[in-house]
Amino acid sequence: MKILVYSVRPDELSILAEWIKAHPDIQVDQTTDLFDETTVDQAAGYDGVVLFQQQPFPDAAINKLNEMGVKNLSLRNVGVDNINLDLVKENGMKLTNVPVYSPNAIAEHAVFLMGRLLRRVPEYDKKIARGDLRWAPEIGRELRNQTVGVIGTGHIGQVIINILKGYGAKVICYDIFKNDKLEQEGLYVDNLDDLYAQADIITVHVPEVKENIHMINNDSIAKMKDGVILINVSRGGLVDTDDLIGNLNSKKIGAAGLDVYEGEVGVFNEDWEGKEIPDARLRDLLSRDNVIVTPHIAFYTNTAVHNMVNVSLDSNVQLIKGETPDTLVK
Ligand code: COI
Repeated sequence: MKILVYSVRPDELSILAEWIKAHPDIQVDQTTDLFDETTVDQAAGYDGVVLFQQQPFPDAAINKLNEMGVKNLSLRNVGVDNINLDLVKENGMKLTNVPVYSPNAIAEHAVFLMGRLLRRVPEYDKKIARGDLRWAPEIGRELRNQTVGVIGTGHIGQVIINILKGYGAKVICYDIFKNDKLEQEGLYVDNLDDLYAQADIITVHVPEVKENIHMINNDSIAKMKDGVILINVSRGGLVDTDDLIGNLNSKKIGAAGLDVYEGEVGVFNEDWEGKEIPDARLRDLLSRDNVIVTPHIAFYTNTAVHNMVNVSLDSNVQLIKGETPDTLVK
């Protein structure tokens, strides 16, 4: 059995080495290259490929892989928004992802963003850096006094809700798929408009399917409380950036914590030190005292990366053996 792992990062090397050591009968080769038309040939003769990238997986490269007879694809992440699932299916290829690598990694980051914004940390950071150690005027707010609206109650949303309960916050939530326990607890509101009307903080945890693209826009924001705090650690495309900026300008949105951004591919996870970040809207967001931008790092913990590597490789082996892993993307 032969597997080729694409886009290997330095932080994955020891985890990969451990997996390889534990599976002496399987040949695992690796490359730092992304998967595209120029690198797909490297997969010739392999039984499966393990992939990770934010860049779109080009259709032509998927087709080439198919022609080469490599039908087993395993992503090392959860999102499937950058791969043409119809094409994978039409080609009779099989795809797995890692749906639950560490909901806590993402959930904790979302709550930390809330906390940092409520306690006005970006403003203090700037003051402290210039030697101003006075308290006022950046008085903070307590999480227990906020109503937090959680949109999407899958694995991540559920962990967020538990963390927020620990802080004593009032939690309300919305999802088209209801979770029994949360329903019994009476946490669901009937519709998004109710959530928008009641929440002091709104955090989105839904996939970037076409129905959700720009769900946070002028219309939805108009239904929110004045000064609402918006958290997005899910996908940049859920938020209309122009509308976000307009509503930050008008102060309708009081603050935003963003770990994802519409134009992040090719910009996040790059070093722009000494160079201008090539995106005026992102520069605008980064310059604001009431906005925290982190470069899609919510997932980036040792636990999560460990699980991403292990689960993707295990899933790929299952595909190669003709089994149906739980992680199969349907
Ligand atoms: C995912 O797992 O889909 C993520 O959002 C991580 C990302 C860096 C690809």
